[in-house]
Amino acid sequence: MTARCLIAGNWKMNGTLAEALSFADGLTALSNDGSSGVEVALMPPYTLLHSLRSVLADKGVQLGAQNVYTECNGAYTGSISTAMLKDAGCKYVILGHSERRNTIGEGNALIRRKLDAVWAEGLVPILCIGELLEERESNHTNDVLKAQLSILTAADADKPLVVAYEPVWAIGTGKTATPEQVVETHAFVHEVLVDLGADRQVLYGGSVNGSNAQQLLHSAGVDGALVGGASLQAASFMQIIEAAK
Ligand code: 13P
Repeated sequence: MTARCLIAGNWKMNGTLAEALSFADGLTALSNDGSSGVEVALMPPYTLLHSLRSVLADKGVQLGAQNVYTECNGAYTGSISTAMLKDAGCKYVILGHSERRNTIGEGNALIRRKLDAVWAEGLVPILCIGELLEERESNHTNDVLKAQLSILTAADADKPLVVAYEPVWAIGTGKTATPEQVVETHAFVHEVLVDLGADRQVLYGGSVNGSNAQQLLHSAGVDGALVGGASLQAASFMQIIEAAK
């Protein structure tokens, strides 16, 4: 793990207002002066962004969103723009999550347009990449990751970006990549990013919890975690944050 570490909670399509406020109550104040070297962020559903904004800020937790549309405003029923996310207090936007790639059919071209929209608003994208089980089993992991990262160019090198490696077979399954797979794959992702112009913070995601966080977060090339299920409860999320310190 490098000095930069981000622990980000992706609530996916979970959370009522009551649950969100109770979660925030359960978070102990986190030092936001950077002395612990750990930054914490939460990506709740859009409906909770405004309600969580100040309560999370008081605890030193950054706000983020799980997705965004490409356009600034207009007749795009059901969509949310980067300007709206900024207005709601977001710093981060998750892009290309496997649940959007594989369930909703988002591809590289659309994700690239979203990257540009996020950068244009001064927000920080968290670009998710990851292989399916059959891709890993047929030794295509590196090809898949390289193709997903190919939307980046050298001209993006000075733009802020976090990458999250989330093997799809490890998401919500209770299976995590082995320590060897994590180290090997993160090394490859860092190498591709360097070739594309700039190394980046690379998070690991996929069944991270209070028990496995210590080992995962202190593996070479792992600069934080993108946490799904275990970020829904303050106690388990705090365990992961503690493990990162
Ligand atoms: P889980 O931690 O529930 O496996 O989800 C990981 C994830 O998809 C975070 O974006």
